[in-house]
Amino acid sequence: MNLKSNLFQIKDKKEDGLRIYGAPLSSNVDISTVVRKLEVMVDNERLLHSVGTYHTMLLLARHYGEDLRIAGLTGLLHDCARSAQEESELSILDVGETPLSAEDMAFPKIWHARLGAVLLKIVFGIENEEMAEAIRIHPTGALAMSRLARLLYIADYIEPTRSFEDSPLEALRVLAFSDMEVAFRTILKHKLGELQRREKFLHPDTLRAHAFYIRED
Ligand SMILES: [Fe+2]
Ligand SMILES: [Fe+2]
Repeated sequence: MNLKSNLFQIKDKKEDGLRIYGAPLSSNVDISTVVRKLEVMVDNERLLHSVGTYHTMLLLARHYGEDLRIAGLTGLLHDCARSAQEESELSILDVGETPLSAEDMAFPKIWHARLGAVLLKIVFGIENEEMAEAIRIHPTGALAMSRLARLLYIADYIEPTRSFEDSPLEALRVLAFSDMEVAFRTILKHKLGELQRREKFLHPDTLRAHAFYIRED
């Protein structure tokens, strides 16, 4: 498969949609440049996942009347720091800002999200707080997440290259387009259950998201 040409086909389709549905992003962001930069930042598997999340974000955004350009780019770039994190923990410290809170220090699996929110501006020249926040909290969730952040949380989980054991993934892929909020809460609950089985401690943001969105009767 020629991944690069597929990426540009998706780009062309998206730009048709942009003229109809999308509001312009404040900064002048060229999608071709974004894709070229991302290609050298992440490995092939992560690139496929990023494109899958991009495509799913476009579909969800169009379905729910959200900004296609912002949703698509957020999906495309949400894991942009994944390989940087794996190559060297020093990458985390080389960005000139401190993306990690004291709470984050014990959870290296989520550092790529905190770093990715910073790289959005530094590497891709995108200054958009809502996008940065959605990327920053995508592995954990948080209190009172924006609609964009909730869409990313869903798309990251259901995008077409994903497969999970013991997950009602196909049903969630349908549910995401019939009831976004129920789909979001179902995924949140499912991921929490998985984390509780695997991890000794949970990130406080994961617990905050659960307390905020999941009400046990
Ligand atoms: Fe991620
Ligand atoms: Fe992801």
